[in-house]
Amino acid sequence: MLLNERYIGLMSGTSVDGVDAVLADFSGHRVASLGHAHLPFSSALRASLQALMQSGADEIERAGDASVALAQAYGEAVRALLAKTGLTSKDVAAIGAHGQTIRHRPERGFTWQLNHPALLSELTGIAVVADFRSRDVAAGGQGAPLVPAFHAAVFQSDAPRAVVNIGGIANVTLLPATGSPEAAQPVLGFDTGPGNTLLDAWCERHTGKPFDERGAWGATGRVDEALLARLLSEPYFAKPAPKSTGRERFNLAWFDAALAAHGVAEGASGRMLNPVDVQATLVALTARSIANAVDGRAVFVCGGGVFNEPLFRAIPGARSTADIGVDPMQVEALAFAWLARQCFNSEPGNLPAVTGARGPRVLGAVYPA
Ligand SMILES: Nc1ncnc2c1ncn2[C@@H]1O[C@H](COP(=O)(O)OP(=O)(O)O)[C@@H](O)[C@H]1O
Ligand SMILES: [Mg+2]
Repeated sequence: MLLNERYIGLMSGTSVDGVDAVLADFSGHRVASLGHAHLPFSSALRASLQALMQSGADEIERAGDASVALAQAYGEAVRALLAKTGLTSKDVAAIGAHGQTIRHRPERGFTWQLNHPALLSELTGIAVVADFRSRDVAAGGQGAPLVPAFHAAVFQSDAPRAVVNIGGIANVTLLPATGSPEAAQPVLGFDTGPGNTLLDAWCERHTGKPFDERGAWGATGRVDEALLARLLSEPYFAKPAPKSTGRERFNLAWFDAALAAHGVAEGASGRMLNPVDVQATLVALTARSIANAVDGRAVFVCGGGVFNEPLFRAIPGARSTADIGVDPMQVEALAFAWLARQCFNSEPGNLPAVTGARGPRVLGAVYPA
């Protein structure tokens, strides 16, 4: 019998915008995407997931309820994807479901992606692989980023490249050129800092919209260089890799503290700063922290940040991964399809040089169909 090499990847990141579902076929020389579906989260699910990212009363009850709602949304995305591709559950070997990160504390030995893989398997009739990050953390790693091994598998070429994923948080993969002395060097990768998360939060606070469509609002503002320098003095940016971060650090409370230190308390006695200039400064913060990390390499960008035009333009030489054959909104979900396949084949999914783990590890737990 032919090996079933079709895997579904489900990715819902720190932007909490919804879930991207991709059906990947690994039977050929190159990974092929057979289809993509994006299902936005309902505003109720979005709000409950965002609330779970901070401590509060009744967390266990709320997490339980949110895990059920999340698996239902995931199941719906899988249904939409199967309908789109004309395939059935029997045609798919497994689903790789990242889950929703509600706490990431590798320094304390844990990372928690809310999920309900048992329910997702019941809803879809497909095996589910989940909890990809914990094993790497247990082995002393950051548990993140996990996409660099996949980036290396599909994007490595005879020239050095940087692949940058701009989700809520941004992460970079530094790929050495193949067939050169440099190729012996390890693939490196780390979270560069905020991607869209502060942009989204500031935009929502001042315009009521969950994100700045095409970056049009921020494009009309002017960068406050002094504020930018203050933001860039955050110690995380200068920390050597391996490193990973999340909304525990880069959130509006962190940003409000920086504004206050800068003497621009909103509505208070301090200096006033136009909200749109702040947005432009946040665009520059994401762009500058990425540019500092890629170190002059050819840069290929994926994730929703591709659609923020001033952000994309502010990263020198940036091109979309579409230019090298992969839709930027599918890269991360494809990576989790690939990670599910690695788990099924008992192959490692982490790169110890990236995460800092003691060694390569098979990542994820399997919930059979
Ligand atoms: N048309 C658009 N214009 C501007 N920004 C966009 C657009 N589409 C998506 N984005 C940005 O991308 C984010 C979602 O990116 P995504 O890669 O899904 O991140 P995550 O992995 O964190 O969910 C949105 O929150 C928004 O900031
Ligand atoms: Mg998303």
